[in-house]
Amino acid sequence: MYNNEQTIALQKKTTEWLASVNATNISGIVKKNTEDLRNCLRFHEYRYYVQNDPLISDFEYDTLYKLLEHFEKGNPDKVTPDSPTQRVGKGLIKDFPKTQHLVPMLSLENSYNADDLHDFDRKARELSGLDEIEYCVEPKFDGASISLVYENDLLSRGVTRGDGEVGDEITLNVKQIKSVPLSAKFSEYGIEQIEIRGEVLMNKNNFKAYNDALIEEGIPPLANPRNAAAGSLRIKDTAEVSKRNLEAFLYHVSYDHATDAQPKIENLKPQTHSGMLEMLWNLGFRSPKNEMKVFKGIDAVIKHVQDFEKVRDNLGYEIDGMVIKVNDLKLQDRLGMTSHHPRWAIAFKFKARQGTSKLLAVEFQVGRTGAVTPVAKIEPVQVGGVTVGSISIHNEEYIKEKDLMLGDTILIERSGDVIPQIVKSFSELRKGDEKKIEFPTHCPVCKSELYKPEEDAVWRCVSLTCPAQIVEGIIHFVSKDAMDIRSFGEANVRKFYEMGLLKSIPDVYNLPYGEIGKLDGFGEKSITKLQQAIEDSKNQSLNRIIYALGIRYVGETTAKTLANAVDHLTDFKNYTEEQLMQLEDVGVKVAKTVYTFFHNADNLLLLQKLEELGVQLKNEKKGTVTDGNLSGLTFLFTGTLSQLKRSDAEALVENNGGKILGAVSSKLNYLVTGENAGSKLEKAKNIPAIHVISEEEFIKMLPISK
Ligand code: IVH
Repeated sequence: MYNNEQTIALQKKTTEWLASVNATNISGIVKKNTEDLRNCLRFHEYRYYVQNDPLISDFEYDTLYKLLEHFEKGNPDKVTPDSPTQRVGKGLIKDFPKTQHLVPMLSLENSYNADDLHDFDRKARELSGLDEIEYCVEPKFDGASISLVYENDLLSRGVTRGDGEVGDEITLNVKQIKSVPLSAKFSEYGIEQIEIRGEVLMNKNNFKAYNDALIEEGIPPLANPRNAAAGSLRIKDTAEVSKRNLEAFLYHVSYDHATDAQPKIENLKPQTHSGMLEMLWNLGFRSPKNEMKVFKGIDAVIKHVQDFEKVRDNLGYEIDGMVIKVNDLKLQDRLGMTSHHPRWAIAFKFKARQGTSKLLAVEFQVGRTGAVTPVAKIEPVQVGGVTVGSISIHNEEYIKEKDLMLGDTILIERSGDVIPQIVKSFSELRKGDEKKIEFPTHCPVCKSELYKPEEDAVWRCVSLTCPAQIVEGIIHFVSKDAMDIRSFGEANVRKFYEMGLLKSIPDVYNLPYGEIGKLDGFGEKSITKLQQAIEDSKNQSLNRIIYALGIRYVGETTAKTLANAVDHLTDFKNYTEEQLMQLEDVGVKVAKTVYTFFHNADNLLLLQKLEELGVQLKNEKKGTVTDGNLSGLTFLFTGTLSQLKRSDAEALVENNGGKILGAVSSKLNYLVTGENAGSKLEKAKNIPAIHVISEEEFIKMLPISK
């Protein structure tokens, strides 16, 4: 899209713009050179969203963006439809109008093994009379399909797949996807009108963050990033769509119409699919140009798709297979379509992360906040290499929404490292003996009456003495992401509680080891190990302690924000709700629960006991973090680490003043590689500024190992 010369020129221009932001005659400069400023912003959008390799900081981008926005506000007649400011959400969309696709959006035939692919190749060879066919192979993106139409170089509409013939027009929402250019120079290729197909995705990191936020709100998480992307495209508030950080890959031109004018570039219309992906890339689209590969003959294709399945988890987004396309576009035309799918392409589906099962029973579990959660017991089923036997079904509303009944056949999905979810029930398979799921009226553990505040989605046991809540609270306290007392575990908490050896959180630091030693399975070695792990946890970082306390709505991220605000945990006694809300990302709900927690005498007593027992409530790390020896450096981990857990390694970076980045970009200083490092490593090799180091080298950078 931008060659070296253009890149250097645009970067130089950017520096000039940044230097002149505070000039007295800046409005005059913008007025004279508005398109120049827009071009700089388009260039940086491209570097960030398409190439994943930004050249300026977010702050610098925002500065230039605001400059343009300010000018356009004062000169509304000068705003162009493809100005970078025109992505921004403007209010609510009333309804999505139905629109006919220029060409029906057919789907692909599926294949599952080498035999299927040999069949596909044989048919294509027979029909074409060729001995060997050239194929282009690319990922099958697992998102929501869309089609985009550009007319006279401007994005004129974005449409969902719908029934393949007619879809919903979602142009304003598509404009929120920053990797979709608002204008592209198709005219230089002699094209006046073009329809392009692609897939909208939510990447794994954004999906996890989105689901974590839902869980913290008490809302059931989404089953997979595909549903998240599809749902986001149908939101009527464009500002909300923008927040979802959607991405799009564009991979197919379904229709194009030539201009009368002579095209500028010689021999422009690509002759191959790979050339077409190249063209889209050069026009500023995120096409799978870097992810595709061209092969002669089906055997090489088969090897490639089988190899790719092994590294699918290294990608930042979900794919559910590969798509194999005849590379020669003329040959594609000759092969044509059946009524369902093209004869020139086939999908190779990876092993399913879905499975069907039967809903056998529902148990009701009481969590540490008293929430009563229905858990479905299902016929054990293998999903993505894991046997699933029970699944949380969240709350009453969710059961209604998914129309679940005891005895139903259900579809399960386990997407990446996301906990399994029920996608749907097959109501058409019901025999008539399925039963309604009845919610209990009383706590299944302490039998007190359940309560549901109107604004809440869940029923709760509000008894302060409910054993289930106490036990769950202790399990959470010792868990991996909280105090990380490894050899404790859920089973021991339950056992010690039942035996009366553990009644509350402070008892964790006051265990009668003599008694425990008499129990089956507790030799001297395991006791020492447990004792040591408990002792070590006394010096856990403050953010983990805050998270471990299980304050409602305080997840790991909020716990970090809170920890950074104080020198000692009990300082929160002196915070008002308003002061808490000054902290980053602390809203009304969190402020209320944190305030209430630190103004409750029982909780303060609990903290006092913990401190007396040696748990560090002082913020040891505050102030030292920014000048830690990794201060100012950015890191990213890829592949399987052998000595450190990924989360521990990331915490080490942060505790020493460094920052973890979400993707490989020129902002990255160190890529730490474990075993089977995949695409991140490949990408980093192309950016000379990134130091690619091993886990050992990383450990040597830490202060402890010196
Ligand atoms: S090509 C005329 N390429 O998979 C055929 N489709 O089951 C155009 N998909 O509906 C489709 N990645 O939504 C193509 N690289 C890719 C794809 C892809 C994902 C989706 C697409 C299609 C479905 C087919």
